[in-house]
Amino acid sequence: MSKTPTIHIDDRRVRAKRDARIYGHFIEHFHRQIYGGIFEPGSPLSDDRGFRTDVVAAIADINPAILRWPGGCFVSAYHWKGGVGPQRRPYYDKAWLVEESNQFGTDEFVEFCKRIGATPYICTNGGSGTAEEMADWVEYCNLDTGGIYAAERRKNGFAEPHKVPIWSIGNENYGPWEIGAKEPEEWAIFVRESAKMMKAVDPEIELSAASIARLDWNEALLREAGAYLDWISLHHYWDPIWETNDLAPYETCIAQSATVDGVIEQAEHLLGALGYLGKIKIAFDEWNLRGWYHPRSNPAVGDIIGARDENDRNDSYTMADAVFSASFLNACLRHADTVKMANIAPTVNARGLIYAHPEGIVLRPTYHVFKLFAKIMGDTVVDSYIEGNPTLKLDTVGEDAPPVHALDAVATTRGDSSRISLINKSGGDTIVVRFDIADPRPLASAQLHSIAPDSKNAYNGVDDPDRVRITTRTIEIDGGSDLTLELPPHSVHVLTLT
Ligand code: AHR
Repeated sequence: MSKTPTIHIDDRRVRAKRDARIYGHFIEHFHRQIYGGIFEPGSPLSDDRGFRTDVVAAIADINPAILRWPGGCFVSAYHWKGGVGPQRRPYYDKAWLVEESNQFGTDEFVEFCKRIGATPYICTNGGSGTAEEMADWVEYCNLDTGGIYAAERRKNGFAEPHKVPIWSIGNENYGPWEIGAKEPEEWAIFVRESAKMMKAVDPEIELSAASIARLDWNEALLREAGAYLDWISLHHYWDPIWETNDLAPYETCIAQSATVDGVIEQAEHLLGALGYLGKIKIAFDEWNLRGWYHPRSNPAVGDIIGARDENDRNDSYTMADAVFSASFLNACLRHADTVKMANIAPTVNARGLIYAHPEGIVLRPTYHVFKLFAKIMGDTVVDSYIEGNPTLKLDTVGEDAPPVHALDAVATTRGDSSRISLINKSGGDTIVVRFDIADPRPLASAQLHSIAPDSKNAYNGVDDPDRVRITTRTIEIDGGSDLTLELPPHSVHVLTLT
């Protein structure tokens, strides 16, 4: 690396306010995310309502602005009425092929959100469900007086409405894997009619609908239902290993991280072409580096339910996940004017930030990335660019793929402090980086908060839970604002300048 890369920052040029919901969450009735994850009645680690207090505390500590529930594919055959009140109706979940006890339903979800300090965001059944069922759900949650379902909520001990402010219609209904998948025209009309009924019950709610970056899908959806929508829901998993669990190596993950901006821009271009840019917000309401492992068509897998345990192996979650996730959040910050929500999928167990087991929890590397971004980064994105950013030579990058730069940085402010995210994606090289701050004010203090373990394959496990963690050091500033930092390979940081 010849020239020292320089990050130029101009705090005076504000790009956008970031929406804290980009550090949002998702939890699905899949394997051990709900039962044995966030909810475990009878466990010594749970409170009197069955919520795992260690899990609640860990999620609350990363400022979870919003939580999406109950699916995912699960929701496309979920009927919410069986999951409220004293008589829960267990049923066979056709999406994941297991019995669903319905012990965790709407009231438990809203109570859980209160405990962690998140806004509840409900995804409705756009597969086997109906517009009426969705509107009844809004009534149950949000109607203050009157209404038979709202009366049932009051009878169930919730006199005050749950006031769920954002609802999404459906989940991935474009996909043949989804129960009740639909064609674009069919979907568009279904969303329009569902939206009409839901907003008739509570005109204050914001609505999203399942979408994909495809022109035909959005053309129909926005023509028919655009006037009712505040959001579109997009999903993306960059290492789609649903059938094989064949984890891509670090270098491939890093190459994928360079494609995130392009994925967002594709959605922006679609909204722009259809006249909705700036009117409809983007919710990446499921995202993660790797798809969850739930093989169905792989003949080599015998026990397809037991195979899902593989998702819970902590050694699968390394700095590849952390560096990718930090890159994803940086891309959301760069597009802060259009991406107003993003929900890591999922939060607990499977590919989650937190591994919950009967005796405790493990905070995986990406958990610490969320802590850096949600707690330390600023709330306003300002102008910055990198001069002399080295390009990584990776075998895994195809000819038409974007170049993979070693360094990724986004500058933000909070009050009169600057907060800059810094990622060194290189698997082997330290980068020395220089800062050029326009209109420099004398710096009083600088602190570097880092996730920088000794190996790109480092992970946290039950026996070694703190190998990947945040360390903080004060940076000596010798007068003025000249600053140079060494960033070790495969590391993520937030620099705060006051
Ligand atoms: O693998 C989990 C699934 O991924 C979610 O249920 C679905 O929404 C997405 O396709």
